[in-house]
Amino acid sequence: MEFIKLTEQFEKHVALIELNRPKELNALNLQLMQELRDTLKQLDNNTEVRAIIITGNEQAFAAGADIKQMANKTAIDMLLIDQFSTWDQIRKTRKPIIAAVSGFALGGGCELAMTCDMIIASETAKFGQPEIKIGVMPGAGGTQRLTKAIGKAKAMELVLTGRFLSAEEAKSYGLVNKVVPVEMYMFEATQLAKEIAAMSPIATMLAKEAVNRSFETFLDEGLHFERKNFYLAFASEDQKEGMAAFVEKRKPDFKGK
Ligand code: CAA
Repeated sequence: MEFIKLTEQFEKHVALIELNRPKELNALNLQLMQELRDTLKQLDNNTEVRAIIITGNEQAFAAGADIKQMANKTAIDMLLIDQFSTWDQIRKTRKPIIAAVSGFALGGGCELAMTCDMIIASETAKFGQPEIKIGVMPGAGGTQRLTKAIGKAKAMELVLTGRFLSAEEAKSYGLVNKVVPVEMYMFEATQLAKEIAAMSPIATMLAKEAVNRSFETFLDEGLHFERKNFYLAFASEDQKEGMAAFVEKRKPDFKGK
């Protein structure tokens, strides 16, 4: 892999993916996104991994899709390449993903962070959908996910002006979970990942699926889906272990079975 650095055992049950095109501020070209998709698939199949962190570097999480790669394309080129179909696979990752964001998270970079399940940001993070400034619009979920995350009025403003959001603003809008000093964002993301990785990976997977369903369906169907996943959790040994540990007043030891 050229543009992705993978540390499969970054911490116990936690994998780390680093986007690695620093000179281009981690601009997301086709190869990087394919490598990211393949890496996530590999981690989804690795039973040792229970939580995943995606990060860039201090200067940039990612400054968007690769503008140079797209600049001369026709609509039909774009249709045939269908670069955003890769993103659908990323969205289907079943394990929880935390985006650890410092510096620029713009365009596709902001969309990638929003495709993750939670965002930990450094104080230097800047979020935005500046595609309008280069004559296009968000294409990897920005108009949908940003609107669902922060509401129509603010999303409309950001998408139509391309203005960047500071980390604090993004937090006050509910886009990010936590903002910490730049020296701390990887630590915080790791703490969160470790906390989640200590849970039953089966329950985690079912819960992630049910929360995501709330974006895709009406309340009645979402509640029905949630209930089925709740009942399904009772097929796992982890449910027996978790509840027995509670009754016996000890810490559970989840095996992912
Ligand atoms: N694509 C390709 N290259 C990029 C890039 C991008 N999205 N963003 C930055 N780069 C490259 C620059 O071209 C530059 O390369 P060279 O040194 O070879 O010229 C290098 O990264 C450093 O960038 P700057 O010199 O511009 O750095 P800066 O600190 O002056 O500015 C910035 C930083 C404000 C992030 C600026 O780079 C910028 O505006 N980038 C583009 C942001 C953008 O429009 N993103 C949306 C892309 S479209 C999209 O993402 C569609 C979608 O929905 C998926």
